[in-house]
Amino acid sequence: MRIGILGAGGMADALGTQWHRAGHEVMISGRDAEKTAALAARMTGAAKVQEREVLAGTFAEAAAFGDVVMAAVLEAGLTDVLAAAGTALRGKPLIDVTNVHPDAYDPTRPIAGAAADLTGAHVVKAFNLCHVDVWRMTPPVFDGRPLAVPLCGDDPAALELVRRLVADLGCTPLDGGGLARATLLEATAAFVIGLWFAGADAQAILTPKEHAGA
Ligand SMILES: NC(=O)c1ccc[n+]([C@@H]2O[C@H](COP(=O)([O-])OP(=O)(O)OC[C@H]3O[C@@H](n4cnc5c(N)ncnc54)[C@H](OP(=O)(O)O)[C@@H]3O)[C@@H](O)[C@H]2O)c1
Repeated sequence: MRIGILGAGGMADALGTQWHRAGHEVMISGRDAEKTAALAARMTGAAKVQEREVLAGTFAEAAAFGDVVMAAVLEAGLTDVLAAAGTALRGKPLIDVTNVHPDAYDPTRPIAGAAADLTGAHVVKAFNLCHVDVWRMTPPVFDGRPLAVPLCGDDPAALELVRRLVADLGCTPLDGGGLARATLLEATAAFVIGLWFAGADAQAILTPKEHAGA
């Protein structure tokens, strides 16, 4: 499929390279055309795919290019970037990976919901619970278990596309419920990242499934 990525940072690089390698057509986009083109060239080289290149464009070009679009910019720039992406996002699957710093997290300000309101896109919140380096792993498997990736969104077709993109990483998609529940993923990230920043083993807060109660 064609994947347009709004952003030219670490998450665009990590996930875009994986999807390019998996056979998809990828266009990244950023504020600085030269920097964006340089990253696209590095991604093409890293993916080791001969017949296709990762493309670089403007936010509007990436939004128009994608069958599915991923927003991968810092939260401070998200509204401006979505506005620059323009009307092409309306009715399109839009993956939102955005987190905010744990100290700045405000549960009364849903990020994915605001992105949906702003664009009219079929937003799916995903990929926000793990560090960027995890998305570079081929595949991310820990203690013999493939990483599970929860998805929150309302549109069945958009969810199905994102499930395929999760599977392309060697991960297992997990149904996290509707878009209203994306705030729970945003809160979970803020809470867990806060624990990690404090040096705690955040994974240890959850028991194995057998101990989850009847
Ligand atoms: N890094 C992680 O481990 C991780 C994990 C899960 C989710 N996330 C989320 O993924 C998103 C991208 O993170 P990242 O790690 O890729 O960050 P990054 O490497 O710092 O890249 C940030 C991207 O956002 C753009 N940007 C920053 N401020 C902007 C603004 N005011 N207006 C327009 N564009 C702006 C940057 O453009 P320039 O290059 O032009 O500055 C760059 O393309 C963030 O929302 C983050 O919370 C990150």
